[in-house]
Amino acid sequence: MSCCEPQGYEKVFDAREARRAAARYARSGLTTLPRRTVELYRSGVVGGRTLLEVGGGIGDFTVEMLRAGVERATCVDMSTGYDGVADRLLVEAGLADRVDRRTGDLAAHPDLAGPADVVALHSVVCCYPDVRALVTAAADRTREYLVVAFPRRTWWMRAAGAALNVYPVLRASEWRFRVHRPVDVVRAATAAGLRQVRSERFAFDHHLVLAR
Ligand SMILES: C[S@@+](CC[C@H](N)C(=O)[O-])C[C@H]1O[C@@H](n2cnc3c(N)ncnc32)[C@H](O)[C@@H]1O
Repeated sequence: MSCCEPQGYEKVFDAREARRAAARYARSGLTTLPRRTVELYRSGVVGGRTLLEVGGGIGDFTVEMLRAGVERATCVDMSTGYDGVADRLLVEAGLADRVDRRTGDLAAHPDLAGPADVVALHSVVCCYPDVRALVTAAADRTREYLVVAFPRRTWWMRAAGAALNVYPVLRASEWRFRVHRPVDVVRAATAAGLRQVRSERFAFDHHLVLAR
């Protein structure tokens, strides 16, 4: 681990947060952004046989993509806090042998994962300080489609972020909620050879698809 990697993500993305996410998934399925990506995959707008999910949390999106037709997936997350719940979800779904879960910071250690046809980051760039490094690492691993969903840069989102960031300070975590500029996301991806093919705006987020 290098001195520049943000630390203490386990203090925020912990087993309690994992149980909360799993209960929500059991109750109402995927949240809006990953659900949209699965819809685009099912309708053929996004295609491919392998998936890399970065910052996948409990891995519910990965489960649904495997059900939708993806053959193999890798899920990388900086926090080990989700591992127990994520492993259980995969076993219950009968999909454990089709997914590799890895722990680490993909931006700092791009070799954590090999290339995949589809690479997805839902609500992940807002959790990382260096948007360029993270999106570049993800884009470099994209064979066909990169999906990046992240919060809109509005005054009220930034105000909400400032309030939210009291929590990690109290928990002594270096994680912060960040509202990056969309242009920085797109620039990093296009510099890695991708082109934007779709952009959707939700109440709180952008949902972008880029293709090689
Ligand atoms: C807000 S959660 C989102 C989880 C899931 N994608 C979802 O939509 O429910 C963000 C996750 O991204 C992970 N993360 C942030 N930066 C990362 C990086 N550079 N490499 C790997 N994981 C990262 C965090 O550990 C956290 O679990």
